[in-house]
Amino acid sequence: MVPLAKREQPLRILFVTSEMAPFSKTGGLGDVSGALPRQLLAAGEDVRVLVPWYGRPDSAQLRHRADLWLPFSGERVEILSPMDHPQWLFLRHPDYERPGSPYQNPAGEDWPDNAERFARLCRAAAEIAQGRVPELSWQAELVHANDWQTGLVPYLLELEARIGAARPRTLLTIHNLAYQGRFDPAVLERLHLPVTDFHPQGTELYGSFSFLKAGLVYADHLSTVSPTYAREIQRPEFGMGLDGLLRARSGALSGILNGIDSEQWNPAADPYLPAHYSADDLQGKATCKARLQQELGLFPDPHVPLLGMISRLVEQKGSDLVLALAPELLKRGLQLVVLGSGERSLEQRLRELGATHRGQMAARIGFDEALSHRIEAGADMFLMPSRFEPCGLNQMYSLRYGTVPIVQETGGLADTVHDVDGPMAQLGNGFVFHPAQVDTLRAAILRAERYFRRTALWHELQRRGMSEDHSWRSAALAYRDLYRSLL
Ligand code: ADP
Ligand code: GLC
Repeated sequence: MVPLAKREQPLRILFVTSEMAPFSKTGGLGDVSGALPRQLLAAGEDVRVLVPWYGRPDSAQLRHRADLWLPFSGERVEILSPMDHPQWLFLRHPDYERPGSPYQNPAGEDWPDNAERFARLCRAAAEIAQGRVPELSWQAELVHANDWQTGLVPYLLELEARIGAARPRTLLTIHNLAYQGRFDPAVLERLHLPVTDFHPQGTELYGSFSFLKAGLVYADHLSTVSPTYAREIQRPEFGMGLDGLLRARSGALSGILNGIDSEQWNPAADPYLPAHYSADDLQGKATCKARLQQELGLFPDPHVPLLGMISRLVEQKGSDLVLALAPELLKRGLQLVVLGSGERSLEQRLRELGATHRGQMAARIGFDEALSHRIEAGADMFLMPSRFEPCGLNQMYSLRYGTVPIVQETGGLADTVHDVDGPMAQLGNGFVFHPAQVDTLRAAILRAERYFRRTALWHELQRRGMSEDHSWRSAALAYRDLYRSLL
């Protein structure tokens, strides 16, 4: 990482997020929040990360930093930091420490008080950003908010500016426009927010109050996690009802492609793998495949293409397309492993398919970090038939692990995977299809299978992907430039 030039002062950035790996993670936001702030710190910036504390047995390792009484509600929250990381600020309140995920109960339903839970995070962020927590002796110049859960932060700071207070600059990164934090407007009173901004140019979204829209309207700048997604969301097909607003704000909207944590995701040193390998020596990958087949109860055949998929099981990810095609693929003799959780009906159908095709298909329902690494390493091909994909991280993990990605052409997938038979064939690192349909997916998988049978060609394809650099380096520099341009 390029350190700051001597004359440059570190920027004081408050990064606010609802999840941060390894402490909390339901998807890519957790990965991004775990990696980007670290890169910025390494580059010499003065970063603080604020994230709720969802509880973990090793909380004894945390030290108390401050108590904070939130404005209007008078509620008390506590700020904690790990002993060795004073830059991580965990927000503790009993309503965060529940069984289930940060957003949902164990039955997969949203917590009914999510508006209150994440408004609390936003209020605390505004207090910290404005330097009103004396124990922290710190004030932000810029707040970097992420997704709907933190969408109120730019709005709360704007409300302060209206009554004459100075406020930091604000950036809202959209990781997924589909999640808009929409609530009945009755919530305004409970959250002590003005009804006067509840109109189409303000916080109203088709009759609901929306945390995300508040952020999109009032943040100084908006970013997405890939350049293609920044363009797509300005069109009605991808805009989720917000494309008009995003077109109106297009001058303040840009896209920065996510990176991957290349220490966590490194096939040459990954502690979850039974064997290690690199682009120069792929032998270990064959061992990973054999062991994965064994672990999942698949037939131990090195010559059969093994397809992998790891995903939240929701409409976005196109898992239904894979389900529809699976019987045919299995009949052809291919093997398939799917690791995921989400919609109960998809989970059920996957389980059933796995049960009727033992030896060829494994469905693992749940969230399993270790297995996700072993699938990335042991599979030959990785499926991402997403209908839309703001960035996507698994295609980049796959490239690094020599697991050739098969992706639908959208968002960050279009920005990172180039078809071996397409116009950018010289950069070809995978198989790209469009639109998101069973027929197009089938054709891409069959093309991939033909390449797989030509071993030398396949190894060249694997090596090309493995030699690419998808680390956070250039993305962190791009964020740094963006932050500076906003001040
Ligand atoms: P999204 O954030 O939309 O879910 P991304 O591709 O950006 O998609 O990131 C998903 C992250 O979550 C990846 O790190 C992926 O490996 C991980 N992940 C998703 N589902 C599971 C699961 N069931 N078990 C383990 N890891 C998972
Ligand atoms: C979202 C998107 C995903 C992206 C991730 C991290 O969850 O669905 O495409 O990679 O955020 O930015």
